[in-house]
Amino acid sequence: MLYVTRKCTFSASHRLYNPDFDHARNEEVFDKCNNVHGHNYTLEVTVAGLPDAATGYVIDLKILKKIIDREIISKVDHQHLNDVEMLRGYIPTAENLAVVFWQVLDKHIESGSLHALKLFESENNFVEYNGDPVILHRYNHALDAEVV
Ligand code: NI
Repeated sequence: MLYVTRKCTFSASHRLYNPDFDHARNEEVFDKCNNVHGHNYTLEVTVAGLPDAATGYVIDLKILKKIIDREIISKVDHQHLNDVEMLRGYIPTAENLAVVFWQVLDKHIESGSLHALKLFESENNFVEYNGDPVILHRYNHALDAEVV
């Protein structure tokens, strides 16, 4: 098996809070992340497979780039993640983003198979997800509804 990776970046703001917590509890749990702030994210998408006999590619990286740009980057770059449709109702931690991005991308990878997704929120903090089944809690009331 071979693993090919496409790396891309986007910038976005978010705010971490749980609408079921009161303000004091949100401050306690999420601390400074309870305030609106931004990150320069790096997303690495790895596809596993064998080189195609005719092209030598596991997946044409130009195609992978197009899929990531169309399905993820165009929807999150310079956006407030709490308001992005695919993320609506999820607390926009790197963990939850990684799982949602996986679910979105997985449907579009037609050669090879999605193998790993790494989402860097900063140089030192990142999440890796390999597609293990996980159920995310989605709040049915808008996350930006909390009045401070
Ligand atoms: Ni943050």
